[in-house]
Amino acid sequence: MFKYIIEQSGHLSGEIDISGSKNAALPIIAASLLADGDVVLKNIPCLSDTTLMCDILKCFGAKVTAEKNTLYINSSNLKNYIAPYDLSSKIRGSFLVMGPMLARCGKVRISLPGGCPIGTRPVDLHLKAFAQMGAEILTGHGYIDVSSKKLTGAKIHLDFPSVGATENIMMAAVGANGTTYIGNASQEPEIVDLANFLNKSGAKIYGAGTDEIKIVGRTPLSPCEYSVIPDRIEAGTFMVAAAITGGKITLNNVIPNHLSPVIAKLTELGVKISAKNTTINITANSPLHCADVKTMPHPGFPTDMQALMMSLLSVCDGTSVICETIFENRFMHAPELVRMGASIKTDGRCAIINGRPYLTGACVKATDLRAGAALSIAALCAKGKSEISDIYHIERGYELFDEKLIKLGAKILKVKR
Ligand code: EPZ
Repeated sequence: MFKYIIEQSGHLSGEIDISGSKNAALPIIAASLLADGDVVLKNIPCLSDTTLMCDILKCFGAKVTAEKNTLYINSSNLKNYIAPYDLSSKIRGSFLVMGPMLARCGKVRISLPGGCPIGTRPVDLHLKAFAQMGAEILTGHGYIDVSSKKLTGAKIHLDFPSVGATENIMMAAVGANGTTYIGNASQEPEIVDLANFLNKSGAKIYGAGTDEIKIVGRTPLSPCEYSVIPDRIEAGTFMVAAAITGGKITLNNVIPNHLSPVIAKLTELGVKISAKNTTINITANSPLHCADVKTMPHPGFPTDMQALMMSLLSVCDGTSVICETIFENRFMHAPELVRMGASIKTDGRCAIINGRPYLTGACVKATDLRAGAALSIAALCAKGKSEISDIYHIERGYELFDEKLIKLGAKILKVKR
Protein backbone atom coordinates (compact mmCIF):
# COMPACT_ATOMS: atom_id res chain seq x y z
CA MET A 1 0.00 0.00 0.00
CA PHE A 2 1.29 3.47 -0.88
CA LYS A 3 0.64 6.99 0.37
CA TYR A 4 1.42 10.50 -0.82
CA ILE A 5 3.48 12.88 1.32
CA ILE A 6 2.64 16.40 0.14
CA GLU A 7 4.11 19.70 1.33
CA GLN A 8 2.91 23.24 0.75
CA SER A 9 3.97 23.75 -2.85
CA GLY A 10 3.79 27.43 -3.80
CA HIS A 11 2.40 28.57 -7.15
CA LEU A 12 2.19 25.70 -9.68
CA SER A 13 3.59 26.57 -13.10
CA GLY A 14 4.41 24.92 -16.42
CA GLU A 15 2.46 22.68 -18.75
CA ILE A 16 1.25 19.07 -18.90
CA ASP A 17 -0.55 16.81 -21.36
CA ILE A 18 -3.96 15.51 -20.28
CA SER A 19 -4.50 11.74 -20.69
CA GLY A 20 -7.34 9.96 -22.44
CA SER A 21 -10.70 9.83 -20.65
CA LYS A 22 -11.24 6.91 -18.24
CA ASN A 23 -15.00 7.31 -18.57
CA ALA A 24 -14.84 7.24 -22.36
CA ALA A 25 -12.33 4.38 -22.49
CA LEU A 26 -14.32 1.96 -20.29
CA PRO A 27 -17.51 1.83 -22.44
CA ILE A 28 -15.47 1.83 -25.67
CA ILE A 29 -13.35 -1.10 -24.47
CA ALA A 30 -16.63 -2.91 -23.68
CA ALA A 31 -18.05 -1.96 -27.09
CA SER A 32 -15.09 -3.58 -28.84
CA LEU A 33 -16.82 -6.90 -27.98
CA LEU A 34 -19.35 -6.09 -30.69
CA ALA A 35 -16.99 -6.26 -33.68
CA ASP A 36 -15.40 -9.37 -35.16
CA GLY A 37 -11.68 -8.71 -35.76
CA ASP A 38 -8.84 -6.43 -34.66
CA VAL A 39 -9.99 -3.24 -32.89
CA VAL A 40 -7.24 -0.68 -32.16
CA LEU A 41 -7.97 1.82 -29.36
CA LYS A 42 -5.61 4.78 -28.85
CA ASN A 43 -5.19 7.41 -26.11
CA ILE A 44 -6.31 4.84 -23.52
CA PRO A 45 -5.09 5.86 -20.03
CA CYS A 46 -3.00 3.22 -18.22
CA LEU A 47 -5.16 2.78 -15.09
CA SER A 48 -6.22 -0.11 -12.87
CA ASP A 49 -9.82 0.39 -14.10
CA THR A 50 -8.93 0.03 -17.79
CA THR A 51 -6.72 -2.98 -17.02
CA LEU A 52 -9.59 -4.62 -15.08
CA MET A 53 -12.00 -4.04 -17.97
CA CYS A 54 -9.50 -5.70 -20.34
CA ASP A 55 -9.18 -8.65 -17.93
CA ILE A 56 -12.96 -9.11 -18.06
CA LEU A 57 -12.87 -9.17 -21.88
CA LYS A 58 -10.12 -11.80 -21.70
CA CYS A 59 -12.41 -13.95 -19.47
CA PHE A 60 -14.95 -13.92 -22.31
CA GLY A 61 -12.25 -15.16 -24.70
CA ALA A 62 -11.18 -11.88 -26.32
CA LYS A 63 -7.52 -11.41 -27.15
CA VAL A 64 -6.24 -8.15 -25.62
CA THR A 65 -2.72 -6.74 -25.80
CA ALA A 66 -1.54 -3.31 -24.65
CA GLU A 67 1.32 -1.19 -25.91
CA LYS A 68 1.55 1.88 -23.62
CA ASN A 69 -1.65 3.87 -24.37
CA THR A 70 -2.84 1.66 -27.26
CA LEU A 71 -5.01 -1.45 -26.92
CA TYR A 72 -5.34 -4.22 -29.54
CA ILE A 73 -8.57 -6.17 -28.97
CA ASN A 74 -9.85 -9.14 -30.99
CA SER A 75 -13.24 -10.56 -29.96
CA SER A 76 -13.60 -13.01 -32.86
CA ASN A 77 -13.69 -16.11 -30.67
CA LEU A 78 -15.77 -15.38 -27.58
CA LYS A 79 -16.30 -18.62 -25.69
CA ASN A 80 -17.57 -17.59 -22.28
CA TYR A 81 -20.29 -15.30 -21.02
CA ILE A 82 -19.49 -15.13 -17.31
CA ALA A 83 -17.61 -12.18 -15.82
CA PRO A 84 -16.01 -13.56 -12.64
CA TYR A 85 -17.01 -12.00 -9.31
CA ASP A 86 -13.44 -11.16 -8.29
CA LEU A 87 -13.11 -8.93 -11.36
CA SER A 88 -16.59 -7.55 -12.02
CA SER A 89 -17.18 -6.69 -8.35
CA LYS A 90 -14.13 -4.40 -8.37
CA ILE A 91 -15.37 -1.67 -10.73
CA ARG A 92 -18.80 -0.29 -11.44
CA GLY A 93 -17.82 0.17 -15.07
CA SER A 94 -17.74 -3.64 -15.49
CA PHE A 95 -21.51 -3.51 -15.82
CA LEU A 96 -20.97 -1.97 -19.24
CA VAL A 97 -20.15 -5.37 -20.77
CA MET A 98 -23.81 -6.38 -20.42
CA GLY A 99 -25.10 -4.46 -23.44
CA PRO A 100 -22.46 -5.65 -25.92
CA MET A 101 -22.54 -9.25 -24.65
CA LEU A 102 -26.35 -9.33 -24.96
CA ALA A 103 -26.08 -8.01 -28.52
CA ARG A 104 -23.19 -10.30 -29.50
CA CYS A 105 -23.83 -13.56 -27.58
CA GLY A 106 -27.42 -13.24 -26.36
CA LYS A 107 -26.41 -13.87 -22.76
CA VAL A 108 -24.13 -12.61 -19.98
CA ARG A 109 -23.62 -13.25 -16.27
CA ILE A 110 -22.06 -10.56 -14.09
CA SER A 111 -21.90 -9.94 -10.39
CA LEU A 112 -24.33 -7.38 -9.01
CA PRO A 113 -22.08 -4.33 -8.78
CA GLY A 114 -21.02 -3.75 -5.21
CA GLY A 115 -22.01 -0.43 -3.71
CA CYS A 116 -19.21 2.04 -3.58
CA PRO A 117 -18.40 4.85 -1.16
CA ILE A 118 -20.38 7.47 -3.08
CA GLY A 119 -23.68 5.63 -3.10
CA THR A 120 -25.63 2.41 -3.69
CA ARG A 121 -25.14 2.70 -7.46
CA PRO A 122 -28.24 0.67 -8.52
CA VAL A 123 -28.56 -0.72 -12.06
CA ASP A 124 -32.36 -0.85 -12.24
CA LEU A 125 -32.50 1.51 -15.23
CA HIS A 126 -30.15 -0.73 -17.22
CA LEU A 127 -32.16 -3.88 -16.41
CA LYS A 128 -35.55 -2.25 -17.03
CA ALA A 129 -34.38 -1.24 -20.50
CA PHE A 130 -32.97 -4.69 -21.31
CA ALA A 131 -36.33 -6.20 -20.26
CA GLN A 132 -38.14 -3.75 -22.57
CA MET A 133 -35.89 -5.05 -25.38
CA GLY A 134 -37.03 -8.60 -24.68
CA ALA A 135 -34.26 -9.81 -22.40
CA GLU A 136 -34.89 -12.21 -19.52
CA ILE A 137 -33.29 -11.22 -16.22
CA LEU A 138 -32.52 -13.58 -13.34
CA THR A 139 -30.71 -12.62 -10.15
CA GLY A 140 -29.35 -14.87 -7.45
CA HIS A 141 -26.22 -15.64 -5.44
CA GLY A 142 -24.93 -12.10 -6.08
CA TYR A 143 -25.06 -12.53 -9.84
CA ILE A 144 -27.31 -11.19 -12.59
CA ASP A 145 -28.03 -13.39 -15.61
CA VAL A 146 -29.39 -11.56 -18.65
CA SER A 147 -30.31 -13.45 -21.80
CA SER A 148 -32.34 -12.96 -24.95
CA LYS A 149 -32.92 -15.12 -28.01
CA LYS A 150 -34.13 -12.14 -29.97
CA LEU A 151 -33.30 -8.64 -28.73
CA THR A 152 -35.78 -6.18 -30.21
CA GLY A 153 -35.64 -2.41 -30.55
CA ALA A 154 -37.80 -0.49 -28.07
CA LYS A 155 -38.89 3.03 -27.18
CA ILE A 156 -37.16 3.59 -23.83
CA HIS A 157 -37.54 6.63 -21.59
CA LEU A 158 -35.03 6.82 -18.74
CA ASP A 159 -36.34 7.94 -15.32
CA PHE A 160 -32.95 9.61 -14.86
CA PRO A 161 -30.36 10.49 -17.56
CA SER A 162 -28.01 7.74 -16.37
CA VAL A 163 -24.63 7.73 -18.15
CA GLY A 164 -24.09 3.98 -17.79
CA ALA A 165 -27.65 3.05 -18.68
CA THR A 166 -27.52 5.21 -21.84
CA GLU A 167 -24.24 3.54 -22.84
CA ASN A 168 -25.45 0.00 -22.10
CA ILE A 169 -28.71 0.50 -24.02
CA MET A 170 -26.86 1.96 -27.01
CA MET A 171 -24.52 -1.04 -27.15
CA ALA A 172 -27.37 -3.56 -26.82
CA ALA A 173 -29.48 -1.71 -29.39
CA VAL A 174 -26.86 -1.98 -32.17
CA GLY A 175 -27.49 -5.76 -32.06
CA ALA A 176 -31.28 -5.60 -31.68
CA ASN A 177 -33.87 -6.23 -34.42
CA GLY A 178 -35.43 -2.88 -35.27
CA THR A 179 -34.86 0.62 -33.98
CA THR A 180 -34.37 1.73 -30.38
CA TYR A 181 -35.13 5.21 -29.08
CA ILE A 182 -33.68 6.47 -25.79
CA GLY A 183 -35.58 9.38 -24.23
CA ASN A 184 -34.08 11.45 -21.37
CA ALA A 185 -30.68 10.12 -22.44
CA SER A 186 -27.44 11.24 -20.80
CA GLN A 187 -25.73 14.01 -22.82
CA GLU A 188 -22.20 13.58 -21.45
CA PRO A 189 -19.27 13.92 -23.92
CA GLU A 190 -18.39 10.29 -23.18
CA ILE A 191 -21.77 9.23 -24.68
CA VAL A 192 -20.86 11.08 -27.91
CA ASP A 193 -17.43 9.40 -27.94
CA LEU A 194 -18.99 5.94 -27.62
CA ALA A 195 -21.49 6.72 -30.41
CA ASN A 196 -18.65 8.00 -32.62
CA PHE A 197 -16.71 4.78 -32.05
CA LEU A 198 -19.77 2.62 -32.82
CA ASN A 199 -20.67 4.65 -35.92
CA LYS A 200 -17.08 4.37 -37.16
CA SER A 201 -17.55 0.58 -36.82
CA GLY A 202 -20.70 0.75 -38.98
CA ALA A 203 -23.49 1.42 -36.48
CA LYS A 204 -26.29 3.88 -37.21
CA ILE A 205 -26.67 6.04 -34.07
CA TYR A 206 -28.23 9.50 -34.25
CA GLY A 207 -28.66 12.22 -31.62
CA ALA A 208 -25.83 11.29 -29.22
CA GLY A 209 -25.13 14.36 -27.07
CA THR A 210 -28.82 15.28 -26.97
CA ASP A 211 -31.53 13.78 -24.73
CA GLU A 212 -33.04 11.80 -27.62
CA ILE A 213 -30.91 9.05 -29.20
CA LYS A 214 -31.99 6.76 -32.08
CA ILE A 215 -30.18 3.51 -32.81
CA VAL A 216 -30.98 1.47 -35.92
CA GLY A 217 -30.29 -2.17 -35.01
CA ARG A 218 -28.59 -5.10 -36.73
CA THR A 219 -26.19 -3.07 -38.84
CA PRO A 220 -23.06 -5.18 -39.45
CA LEU A 221 -20.13 -3.86 -37.42
CA SER A 222 -16.52 -4.10 -38.52
CA PRO A 223 -13.42 -3.53 -36.40
CA CYS A 224 -11.87 -0.05 -36.54
CA GLU A 225 -9.11 2.11 -35.10
CA TYR A 226 -10.24 4.86 -32.71
CA SER A 227 -8.70 7.40 -30.34
CA VAL A 228 -10.71 8.27 -27.20
CA ILE A 229 -11.33 11.88 -26.11
CA PRO A 230 -9.19 13.59 -23.46
CA ASP A 231 -10.25 13.32 -19.82
CA ARG A 232 -12.26 16.44 -18.94
CA ILE A 233 -12.27 15.59 -15.21
CA GLU A 234 -8.49 15.17 -15.09
CA ALA A 235 -8.22 18.52 -16.86
CA GLY A 236 -10.62 20.11 -14.35
CA THR A 237 -8.61 18.62 -11.50
CA PHE A 238 -5.40 20.31 -12.66
CA MET A 239 -7.28 23.57 -13.27
CA VAL A 240 -8.29 23.52 -9.60
CA ALA A 241 -4.69 22.68 -8.63
CA ALA A 242 -3.55 25.86 -10.40
CA ALA A 243 -6.37 27.89 -8.83
CA ILE A 244 -5.76 26.69 -5.25
CA THR A 245 -2.00 27.43 -5.43
CA GLY A 246 -2.35 30.79 -7.20
CA GLY A 247 -0.45 29.28 -10.13
CA LYS A 248 -0.22 29.72 -13.88
CA ILE A 249 -0.36 26.51 -15.96
CA THR A 250 -1.12 25.28 -19.47
CA LEU A 251 -3.02 22.06 -20.20
CA ASN A 252 -2.46 20.41 -23.60
CA ASN A 253 -4.61 17.73 -25.28
CA VAL A 254 -7.96 18.96 -23.95
CA ILE A 255 -11.34 19.73 -25.57
CA PRO A 256 -12.32 23.09 -24.00
CA ASN A 257 -16.02 22.84 -24.72
CA HIS A 258 -16.19 19.62 -22.66
CA LEU A 259 -15.18 21.82 -19.73
CA SER A 260 -17.63 24.71 -20.24
CA PRO A 261 -19.39 24.34 -16.82
CA VAL A 262 -16.03 24.05 -15.02
CA ILE A 263 -14.51 27.02 -16.88
CA ALA A 264 -17.61 29.11 -16.12
CA LYS A 265 -17.52 28.28 -12.39
CA LEU A 266 -13.76 28.89 -11.96
CA THR A 267 -14.09 32.18 -13.87
CA GLU A 268 -16.88 33.16 -11.42
CA LEU A 269 -14.38 32.63 -8.57
CA GLY A 270 -11.91 34.98 -10.26
CA VAL A 271 -9.63 32.50 -12.05
CA LYS A 272 -8.40 33.75 -15.46
CA ILE A 273 -8.90 31.09 -18.15
CA SER A 274 -8.24 31.22 -21.89
CA ALA A 275 -8.76 28.36 -24.34
CA LYS A 276 -7.40 27.85 -27.87
CA ASN A 277 -7.94 24.69 -29.96
CA THR A 278 -6.77 21.85 -27.66
CA THR A 279 -5.06 24.00 -25.03
CA ILE A 280 -6.30 25.75 -21.88
CA ASN A 281 -4.31 28.41 -19.96
CA ILE A 282 -5.14 29.02 -16.29
CA THR A 283 -3.87 31.94 -14.18
CA ALA A 284 -4.90 32.52 -10.57
CA ASN A 285 -2.79 35.46 -9.40
CA SER A 286 -5.49 37.27 -7.43
CA PRO A 287 -7.50 36.31 -4.33
CA LEU A 288 -10.52 34.13 -5.20
CA HIS A 289 -14.03 34.76 -3.95
CA CYS A 290 -16.74 32.18 -3.19
CA ALA A 291 -19.55 30.86 -5.40
CA ASP A 292 -22.29 28.24 -5.06
CA VAL A 293 -22.13 24.91 -6.92
CA LYS A 294 -24.96 22.56 -7.88
CA THR A 295 -24.02 19.31 -9.62
CA MET A 296 -26.25 18.36 -12.56
CA PRO A 297 -26.18 16.00 -15.56
CA HIS A 298 -24.15 17.42 -18.48
CA PRO A 299 -24.12 20.21 -19.57
CA GLY A 300 -24.57 21.12 -15.89
CA PHE A 301 -21.68 21.17 -13.42
CA PRO A 302 -20.16 17.63 -13.27
CA THR A 303 -20.52 15.67 -10.03
CA ASP A 304 -16.99 14.32 -10.55
CA MET A 305 -15.64 17.85 -10.00
CA GLN A 306 -17.63 18.45 -6.79
CA ALA A 307 -14.96 17.25 -4.37
CA LEU A 308 -12.31 19.32 -6.15
CA MET A 309 -14.48 22.42 -5.87
CA MET A 310 -15.04 21.79 -2.16
CA SER A 311 -11.26 21.87 -1.63
CA LEU A 312 -10.95 25.13 -3.55
CA LEU A 313 -13.96 26.81 -1.90
CA SER A 314 -12.46 25.92 1.50
CA VAL A 315 -9.84 28.65 0.92
CA CYS A 316 -11.94 31.14 -1.07
CA ASP A 317 -13.19 34.32 0.58
CA GLY A 318 -16.82 34.01 1.76
CA THR A 319 -19.46 31.32 2.30
CA SER A 320 -20.40 28.84 -0.46
CA VAL A 321 -23.09 26.17 -0.73
CA ILE A 322 -22.57 22.93 -2.68
CA CYS A 323 -25.60 20.83 -3.66
CA GLU A 324 -24.80 17.28 -4.84
CA THR A 325 -27.86 16.21 -6.82
CA ILE A 326 -26.41 13.10 -8.54
CA PHE A 327 -25.13 10.83 -5.75
CA GLU A 328 -26.57 10.40 -2.27
CA ASN A 329 -23.30 10.07 -0.39
CA ARG A 330 -20.59 12.02 -2.11
CA PHE A 331 -19.27 14.21 0.74
CA MET A 332 -16.80 11.77 2.33
CA HIS A 333 -14.00 14.23 1.59
CA ALA A 334 -15.67 16.88 3.81
CA PRO A 335 -14.60 15.51 7.23
CA GLU A 336 -11.11 14.88 5.86
CA LEU A 337 -10.90 18.52 4.70
CA VAL A 338 -12.13 19.60 8.16
CA ARG A 339 -9.13 17.76 9.59
CA MET A 340 -7.04 20.12 7.43
CA GLY A 341 -8.72 23.15 9.02
CA ALA A 342 -11.58 23.66 6.55
CA SER A 343 -14.91 24.94 7.89
CA ILE A 344 -17.57 22.70 6.29
CA LYS A 345 -21.00 21.62 7.48
CA THR A 346 -22.88 18.96 5.53
CA ASP A 347 -26.61 18.27 5.71
CA GLY A 348 -27.91 15.56 3.36
CA ARG A 349 -26.99 16.54 -0.17
CA CYS A 350 -25.90 20.05 0.75
CA ALA A 351 -22.63 21.35 2.17
CA ILE A 352 -21.93 24.85 3.55
CA ILE A 353 -18.31 25.96 3.22
CA ASN A 354 -16.96 28.99 5.09
CA GLY A 355 -13.74 29.96 3.36
CA ARG A 356 -10.64 30.05 5.57
CA PRO A 357 -7.43 32.03 4.98
CA TYR A 358 -5.43 28.81 4.87
CA LEU A 359 -5.53 25.04 5.53
CA THR A 360 -3.02 23.09 7.64
CA GLY A 361 -1.34 19.82 6.68
CA ALA A 362 -2.75 16.60 8.23
CA CYS A 363 -2.90 12.82 7.80
CA VAL A 364 -6.04 12.12 5.73
CA LYS A 365 -7.54 9.18 3.85
CA ALA A 366 -8.74 8.94 0.27
CA THR A 367 -12.25 7.44 0.43
CA ASP A 368 -12.90 7.40 -3.33
CA LEU A 369 -11.29 8.48 -6.57
CA ARG A 370 -12.28 12.14 -6.69
CA ALA A 371 -12.16 12.65 -2.91
CA GLY A 372 -8.54 11.44 -2.95
CA ALA A 373 -7.67 13.87 -5.72
CA ALA A 374 -9.41 16.69 -3.84
CA LEU A 375 -7.44 16.02 -0.64
CA SER A 376 -4.16 15.89 -2.59
CA ILE A 377 -4.94 19.23 -4.23
CA ALA A 378 -5.89 20.78 -0.87
CA ALA A 379 -2.56 19.57 0.58
CA LEU A 380 -0.69 21.56 -2.10
CA CYS A 381 -1.75 24.84 -0.46
CA ALA A 382 -1.98 23.68 3.18
CA LYS A 383 0.70 24.96 5.58
CA GLY A 384 3.12 22.16 6.51
CA LYS A 385 3.03 18.50 5.49
CA SER A 386 0.10 16.18 4.65
CA GLU A 387 -0.09 12.42 4.23
CA ILE A 388 -2.77 10.98 1.96
CA SER A 389 -3.37 7.24 2.47
CA ASP A 390 -5.30 4.73 0.33
CA ILE A 391 -4.08 6.41 -2.84
CA TYR A 392 -5.01 3.31 -4.88
CA HIS A 393 -8.38 5.08 -5.24
CA ILE A 394 -6.66 8.00 -6.99
CA GLU A 395 -4.58 5.82 -9.27
CA ARG A 396 -7.77 4.12 -10.53
CA GLY A 397 -8.63 7.28 -12.44
CA TYR A 398 -5.58 9.54 -12.81
CA GLU A 399 -2.66 8.44 -15.00
CA LEU A 400 0.76 9.55 -13.63
CA PHE A 401 -1.00 11.84 -11.11
CA ASP A 402 2.04 12.51 -8.91
CA GLU A 403 4.44 12.80 -11.87
CA LYS A 404 2.25 15.42 -13.56
CA LEU A 405 1.98 17.40 -10.31
CA ILE A 406 5.78 17.24 -9.81
CA LYS A 407 6.22 18.56 -13.37
CA LEU A 408 4.15 21.60 -12.31
CA GLY A 409 6.32 22.17 -9.24
CA ALA A 410 4.32 20.30 -6.58
CA LYS A 411 6.17 18.84 -3.59
CA ILE A 412 4.65 15.34 -3.65
CA LEU A 413 6.30 12.02 -2.83
CA LYS A 414 4.78 8.56 -3.28
CA VAL A 415 6.02 6.24 -0.54
CA LYS A 416 5.24 2.76 0.73
CA ARG A 417 3.04 2.94 3.84
C1 EPZ B 1 -20.74 7.48 -14.59
O1 EPZ B 1 -21.17 6.59 -13.57
C2 EPZ B 1 -19.27 7.77 -14.29
N1 EPZ B 1 -18.51 6.53 -14.33
C3 EPZ B 1 -19.15 8.42 -12.91
O2 EPZ B 1 -17.77 8.75 -12.72
C4 EPZ B 1 -19.97 9.70 -12.91
O3 EPZ B 1 -19.91 10.28 -11.61
C5 EPZ B 1 -21.43 9.39 -13.27
O4 EPZ B 1 -21.47 8.72 -14.55
C6 EPZ B 1 -22.28 10.63 -13.35
O5 EPZ B 1 -21.75 11.52 -14.28
C7 EPZ B 1 -18.16 6.00 -15.54
O6 EPZ B 1 -18.48 6.54 -16.58
C8 EPZ B 1 -17.37 4.73 -15.50
P1 EPZ B 1 -25.11 7.21 -13.57
P2 EPZ B 1 -22.62 5.86 -13.71
O7 EPZ B 1 -25.67 5.93 -14.04
O8 EPZ B 1 -22.87 5.53 -15.11
C9 EPZ B 1 -28.48 6.58 -10.33
C10 EPZ B 1 -15.74 8.87 -11.57
O9 EPZ B 1 -15.39 9.46 -10.54
N2 EPZ B 1 -28.81 5.37 -11.10
O10 EPZ B 1 -25.27 8.43 -14.43
O11 EPZ B 1 -22.66 4.78 -12.70
C11 EPZ B 1 -27.15 6.42 -9.59
O12 EPZ B 1 -27.33 5.77 -8.36
C12 EPZ B 1 -17.06 8.14 -11.62
O13 EPZ B 1 -15.05 8.82 -12.64
C13 EPZ B 1 -29.94 4.64 -10.75
O14 EPZ B 1 -30.66 4.99 -9.82
O15 EPZ B 1 -23.56 7.06 -13.25
C14 EPZ B 1 -26.70 7.84 -9.41
O16 EPZ B 1 -27.34 8.37 -8.27
C15 EPZ B 1 -17.81 8.20 -10.30
N3 EPZ B 1 -30.23 3.51 -11.44
C16 EPZ B 1 -27.21 8.53 -10.67
O17 EPZ B 1 -28.24 7.67 -11.21
C17 EPZ B 1 -29.46 3.08 -12.48
O18 EPZ B 1 -29.79 2.05 -13.09
C18 EPZ B 1 -26.14 8.73 -11.73
O19 EPZ B 1 -25.68 7.47 -12.11
C19 EPZ B 1 -28.32 3.84 -12.82
C20 EPZ B 1 -28.01 4.98 -12.12
